[in-house]
Amino acid sequence: MIAMADDIALEAQDLHKNFGGIKAVDGCHLRVPKGKISGLIGPNGSGKTTTFNLLTGVIPPDSGKVIFNGEDIAGLKPYQIFGKGITRTFQITRIYREMTVFENMLSVTYLNMPMDKVRERAEELMEFVTLTKLRDEYGGHLSYGQQKLLEFARALMTDPDLILLDEPAAGVNRTLLAKLLERIHELQRMGKTILIVEHDMNLIMKHCEKVFVMDHGVNIAEGVPEEIQNNEHVVEAYFGRRKDGNAGS
Ligand SMILES: Nc1ncnc2c1ncn2[C@@H]1O[C@H](COP(=O)(O)OP(=O)(O)OP(=O)(O)O)[C@@H](O)[C@H]1O
Ligand SMILES: [Mg+2]
Repeated sequence: MIAMADDIALEAQDLHKNFGGIKAVDGCHLRVPKGKISGLIGPNGSGKTTTFNLLTGVIPPDSGKVIFNGEDIAGLKPYQIFGKGITRTFQITRIYREMTVFENMLSVTYLNMPMDKVRERAEELMEFVTLTKLRDEYGGHLSYGQQKLLEFARALMTDPDLILLDEPAAGVNRTLLAKLLERIHELQRMGKTILIVEHDMNLIMKHCEKVFVMDHGVNIAEGVPEEIQNNEHVVEAYFGRRKDGNAGS
């Protein structure tokens, strides 16, 4: 067991990941507060998705630790990390294109539930993301926004402690987005921890209690939304001159 503060759900310690010379993550530290909604922001290419991939075992870190429930889970396989209570959605959705919506919902393995409960939960979640009418449609026929909704619903098939969402708002219409956010808050009230990567700054500022900011693979700031908005390093990373001399995105 590795000691960790009671109010921290997950701690990333000095994570590094290099892709053939590109330092995608170059010393990332996160202490994700338990039972809260937090945000991870940063310009395009700053290492947010790679960080999610390191936290969820999609790729192993070159070095660093990921402490979850008192255990270093860095380098474990995705299904092992999933089994420990961490679920996620992908920026580029990973639904099964050749399976129907309903089959996609049932494709989640390692569920500790009898099959009738699994089906019931799948029905309820499809209804929630308004995909019930499309239950027999192939995943590959859904629009991008619908695929994101399906992935969100599928991520909730388990009873995860920690939910990582990579750009959940992208391509989702406003009405549905409001419902998604409502659901995210409901999950938080149930005691879940949520970490959201998102470029929509209004969404982050309005819904997150804590915000982490990355730039060039490292953390440049963290704090409550007001602190982040007024942080000069953050403003510079987004709007000012970049270290490489190009304008930020
Ligand atoms: N599998 C990979 N192979 C090579 N380079 C990669 C790979 N994955 C990411 N990178 C590079 O690592 C850097 C960080 O990418 P990442 O996808 O983590 O950024 P991001 O913050 O999620 O950006 P965005 O906001 O555009 O989604 C980028 O320079 C990217 O090109
Ligand atoms: Mg990304």
